[in-house]
Amino acid sequence: MRVGVLTGGRDCPGLNAVVRAVVRKGVQVHGHEFVGFRDGWRGPLEGETVPLDIRAVRGTLPRGGTILGSSRTDPLAREDGARRIHDTLAELGVEGLIAIGGRDTLGTAARLADGHGVPVVGVPKTIDNDLPGTDRTVGFDTAVGVAVEAIDRLHTTAESHKRVLVVEVMGGEAGWIAVHSGLAGGANVILVPEQPFDVDRVCGWVTSRFQATYSPIVVVADGAVPKEGEAALGRTPAGTPGQVRLSGVGEWLAREIEHRTGKEARTTVLGHLQRGGSPSPADRWLATRFGLHAIDAVHERDFGTMVALRGTDVVRVPLREATGRPRTVDPALYEEIGVFFG
Ligand code: F6P
Repeated sequence: MRVGVLTGGRDCPGLNAVVRAVVRKGVQVHGHEFVGFRDGWRGPLEGETVPLDIRAVRGTLPRGGTILGSSRTDPLAREDGARRIHDTLAELGVEGLIAIGGRDTLGTAARLADGHGVPVVGVPKTIDNDLPGTDRTVGFDTAVGVAVEAIDRLHTTAESHKRVLVVEVMGGEAGWIAVHSGLAGGANVILVPEQPFDVDRVCGWVTSRFQATYSPIVVVADGAVPKEGEAALGRTPAGTPGQVRLSGVGEWLAREIEHRTGKEARTTVLGHLQRGGSPSPADRWLATRFGLHAIDAVHERDFGTMVALRGTDVVRVPLREATGRPRTVDPALYEEIGVFFG
């Protein structure tokens, strides 16, 4: 069988590890051939391919990014999108497709599979870990590791200068990175998108930490908002045409803390550092297992499915489970870890 592979959406560590596992098992165990599609759904939409064989994946296990390229192209935004994808697959003799992506890419995969009969299997990835249907996504563990290393380093500056250090981590709609890195890094305050925060309460907590002789570390997810709403950040809602974000929540919060408590505050925005570089051992492990299971699903022509982690098992679930609302952090976890959540 000839199998197509694409990586879509925002990049994350571990994408190449999935592709490598798919190709190696596909060639060596099942005897399949591969076609790489360039830049996510843009590849099959426009018929753009990348050579993909054992040689192309050699040495890629520890490499960040994606050898296939990525984009956030939505083929279903075009009326003829599904037909064009069918035409490309037919022209190239591709009988099965593996889409490695987050909610956008796999949401498109689900609609193409269910509504248009495109033979696709999904693999979940995103540093945000917010994809419904799986307990873990490829990229999350690496991002948490980057954030923890940064928080560890920031503790010493916080203490040396008796400052408040605000660390802005990624997490547009869910606070998984904030909660995991904040706990592992010993943060004093963790602010997440799931729960609007009260700046006065954050400042009260910061002051009490100083009284207890700690120099506080505040971890804030980039999607967290104060109780007053997005407008209070002095920025317009993301995506509003013609308008720009004036600052991120981390910078805004440090200014407010300094103003309201009189304590010096600084911000570190980790940004895309969390999405780049070599995947952690745990991400290589998960990516490889997902890849091995995904090519088996294609081999069995079990299309319209996604590989997923449930507990410690890799299982197959309907692709449509990846769509819909993001998987957010269970509030019981905030209680359990006992950190101040604003
Ligand atoms: O992958 C999702 C994410 O990591 C979000 O947590 C973050 O808000 C977003 O990417 C930022 O992405 P970019 O600025 O590259 O579009």
